[in-house]
Parts: sequence; C-alpha cells; structure tokens
Amino acid sequence: MAMCGIVGYVGEREALPIVLGSLQRIEYRGYDSCGILVQDSANGQVYMHKGLESIDELMEILPLCDYHGNIGIGHTRWATHGTPSVRNAHPHLDCNGEIAVVHNGIIENFQSLKEGLLRNCRFRSDTDTEVIPHLIENTLMRIRDSGESGEELLKDAIRESLSYLKGSYAIIVAIKGFDGLIAARRESPLIIGVGDRENFIASDVPAVLEQTNRVIYLEEGDIAVVKKDGIYIENGAVEVKRVVRLIPWTIEDAEKGGYEHFMLKEIHEEPKAIIDTLRGYLTETGIELGFDARHDIMMVACGTSYYAALCGKYIIEHIARIPVQVELASEFNYSDTVLGDDKTVIAMTQSGETADTLMALKKAKRFGCHTVAITNVVGSSVTRIADDTVYIRAGPEIGVAATKSFIAQLVTIYLLGLYLADIPRHDLEGWIEELKRLPQLAQMVIDDSNAVIQDIARYLAGFENVFFVGRGVNLPVALEGALKLKEISYIHAEGYAAGELKHGPFALLTNATPVVAILSNDNVYEKLLGNIKEIKARDAPVVAVAVEGDDEIEKYVDAVIRVPATRALLSPIPNSVALHLLAYWAAKARGCEIDKPRNLAKSVTVE
Ligand code: G6P
Repeated sequence: MAMCGIVGYVGEREALPIVLGSLQRIEYRGYDSCGILVQDSANGQVYMHKGLESIDELMEILPLCDYHGNIGIGHTRWATHGTPSVRNAHPHLDCNGEIAVVHNGIIENFQSLKEGLLRNCRFRSDTDTEVIPHLIENTLMRIRDSGESGEELLKDAIRESLSYLKGSYAIIVAIKGFDGLIAARRESPLIIGVGDRENFIASDVPAVLEQTNRVIYLEEGDIAVVKKDGIYIENGAVEVKRVVRLIPWTIEDAEKGGYEHFMLKEIHEEPKAIIDTLRGYLTETGIELGFDARHDIMMVACGTSYYAALCGKYIIEHIARIPVQVELASEFNYSDTVLGDDKTVIAMTQSGETADTLMALKKAKRFGCHTVAITNVVGSSVTRIADDTVYIRAGPEIGVAATKSFIAQLVTIYLLGLYLADIPRHDLEGWIEELKRLPQLAQMVIDDSNAVIQDIARYLAGFENVFFVGRGVNLPVALEGALKLKEISYIHAEGYAAGELKHGPFALLTNATPVVAILSNDNVYEKLLGNIKEIKARDAPVVAVAVEGDDEIEKYVDAVIRVPATRALLSPIPNSVALHLLAYWAAKARGCEIDKPRNLAKSVTVE
C-alpha cells in the first residue's frame, strides 16, 4: 500500500498505547482505515484489531487489559489496491496467523506472485501487501529443513521473500514467538527510533519523536532485526552499521519533514508523485489503464483540476488525435449541452468529493455516456459514480493549494493520451522513455532553479497585479500559475492566452504589471516571442520560464527561470514545478499563511 504510515515498538512497556500514540503523530497525512497488532512474548498471545475508526476512537475502544504485550505494530492505510475496509486494513497475516506485516509502498508484481501462492494459501484481502506474509510463510516452510533455526532462519526467509518483490516497500514483520520485529525498506522511507531498553520503528520521524530523538535512517535494501536491547542491520546479507542521528526538530517541524510548510514539502515530493503514478500503469508491454474509452472525450472539473483537464485537451488531441471537450463542472451542470452516448466523460478531481464535479458526472451518466474518474483518493465518492477509475497516486496532500496532485494529474493524462493513441510501438516506447525522465527533470528544477525563483518571487511580491501568459499546452499552465499565485500570496494574478492580451488587457500594462511568460520549444515559440516584444513595448517587466539552452529569450525579457528541456508537450511538468515554487516563495515573502489560505478549503463538497 502506498502512502501509508507504519509504526512498531519493542521494549518493556505496554506496546498498545505507544503504537497508538505513534500512529496519532502521523495522522495528519490522512488515512482511511487503520490496524494494530500486539504480541505478548510472555505467553505467546497475539491480539489484533483492524477497522475504519480513527486513532482517537481506537484509544477509547481498545482496553489495555485485552491487548497486553511488549511488542506491537500499527498501520494507517491510505488505500491504493482495494477499497478502504476492515479486510483490506493492515496488518496482513499468513495462513496460520503467525506472521503479520504492515507495509507502505506498492508491490508491482503482486498479481503474479499471488497467482503462484494461491495453490497453498488463502488470501483474505484485495491488497498487494498480503503476498508478503504468505511468501515469508512459504519460504520458511521450505527452508526449515536446512537445519537452521531461530533468528537466522527468519532472516533468511525474509531476505529471500523480499528478493521476489518488485516495486517499493517499507515493512515491519511481527512473528509469533519471536522477541523482536524485522523491518526492511526499498524506495520507501523507514527509520528506527533508538530508546533505552526499547526501540521504535516508523515510516516517519514524527511517529517516534515523543519517545526519542535518536534516529537511524535505514538505507535502500536494509533489513533490520530490532529487539528491545539490540538492533542488527544487514544489507545484501552482510551486516552493516548505520549512524544514530540526533533529530533537532519539534514534532510539528517533523510532520513537515523539516520543511517550513506542507506546500514546500509537497513540491519537493513532485518527482516522487511522478514516479508513483507512472509505476502504477506502465507495464512491460506499454500502458494499462483498465478500460476502453469511446470515441469522443469530454472532461469535467473545477479549480486546478480544470486546468489539468485543459492541458489534457492539448495533450490527448496531439498524441491520440481524438477530439476532447473540457467543461467547468459548475457550468456544465446547468447548461443545455446534449451529450451523445458515444462519449467518454472524465471527471478530474483530486479529492474525488467536489460537489460540482460529482453532479456533472451524474449528468453525463444520464446521457448514457461512459464515465471515468481520475482521482487521488481510493474509494472517494467519484469512484462510486464512475464506471471506471484511474488513480493519480500523488499521496496525501495537506497544503490546500494543489501542487503534487496537479503534477500527478498531468502524468495521468499523458498516460491516458498514449493509452488511447493508435501509434507505432516505436513511438510509444519513445514517449515512455521521455516520461520516465520527468522525475529527474522535476528534481532539476527544484535543485537548480530554486535560488533564481526565490529572487524573482521576492521581486513579484512587491506588485499588486501580475499576468501569466502562455500558448498551446502551456496556456493552461499559465492559468494555473496565476491561480496558484493568487490563492496563496493574495496578489491579483490573471492567466491569459498570450495572443489575447492585445484585445483588452494591454490597456492595463504599465511598469507596475509584471508578466510571467511560459515558453517551450514548440510551434508557438516564435509567436509567443512576438507577444513578449509587444508586452515589453508597453513597459511591463517580463519574466520568462524557458528551457535551458534557449539563448534567444534573454534578449527580450528582464529575468529567466530556466527549466530542463524535454518534448514540448511534456514541458507543462517542469514549467509547473517552477510556477509552484514561484507562488510559494512569493507568498512566503509576503508573510502569508501558506498551507491554509483564507476562505479556501481542500475539498469543496457544496455546490
Ligand atoms: C478546491 C481546492 C482546489 C481544487 C478544487 C477542485 O477549490 O482548494 O485546490 O483544485 O477544489 O478540487 P478537486 O478535488 O475536484 O480536484
């Protein structure tokens, strides 16, 4: 399961309150269900509870006397495979109920592993995670005869089982009768909190900070055996030493991963959001989204999702040559538009709960259209209305301003365009190769352009009005750039088609109305350059977002934010990362409350 929180405790105290307390510390990430398991090493008893309750409720309903033990694991689930439900909540167990696993990550090859395991094992959930305890059980049974026993046997079995997994994981394994916990990670964070005759394991630092500020960050491929008075770590079957770091953060700092705001943390998570979204849908032979679309496409959405959908029009029409219509949900709902049942109507909504978007999708259903939801939240309302769902896998987004969810929506649209396109295999492979470079390109913007962006943001923060202009696929990027700036910095910002500025807004251009122009190496580059010259002639300062190596642009503008080059159609990704940082730093320069802008909500469930 991706984007979940996992915790573990081994020591001399009662595990239950510590595990629940740790889970409470990572609740801010959002979850839809949770579970705990406590093991009493004295009498070998194991107690488990899984449910849809909140951690607060679990604290009320789980009596300590019934959940007695010094070893415990816990999990907050944010569903990716299988709806939020008791049966899909973690921990997951092997057939005998002796091996329990909590997991954060995505096991990509779980289907094929599961098919192999079905001969011997009974599966109880729809999750990818459940293959792990079964694999460990099977491997243990097979190698038990080798003469090994105890801890060595367990380590061998877990090491071998993990070698079969493709994808990402941070796991904690509790085994009945074993006086410790085994933890392992690949591409998902996992830490050990070092205590005094007790140790803690968690996916996130805040989970352990109340207990200890001494932390070991496990590294890629590490497997750790954690007991109350010892921690053994190996990598590639060889013992390794990892340093214990002192964490200087408060719990509140730690929730934000050391960043000052969730928004900044989430912008830094954009490369990961791209990786996770691609990982969900790229197969060995191409792309699999799991449905067949009808010929014409319409998208309905609100806010930032609407701009992602507008990008979708350019992207899908270019790649797949299929006509795409995009409507604001709140407008479509009361329009006289008649839809034929030959349409696929796609609702783009990160929360899956936006009232206007849900209503629009229901209206499309009444016309007999095929409906698809693109959302970040498994089991959200939109998924229950739509015929098919595609998850964007951005992970929980806490900042009200959508950032990594917008990036993941764009990635999903590229996948959708390619999925629908009837293009030669060679072309498809070329696109996929370039898509796989996007995380790295996003990271380059964050690493290399942040300082310049901060300077420019401080400059923009001194103005009351800013225009954002673009053309083609970067027009919606400009619209979204303006929305982002206005919603968190309260600077009035207007996004405009660059070619339209002369039909009215020119009247506003002075040296007090800076214009941010979003460019890429496409067929409208020259046209946009022409627009920029017209703007400069009206004295307005111009900031360009342009690709590395474009030397021409410098001659015409006052400042340039550089982004790495990619195919023009993919440029919305690096460009948007730059605009997210720009909005963030402008808001910061103005001292705004960035994560919770005034009057706004993350999910708008009223019409
Ligand atoms: C709210 C949020 C925006 C979001 C819009 C649509 O206004 O603050 O960030 O773009 O709703 O939300 P959705 O969940 O449908 O994408």
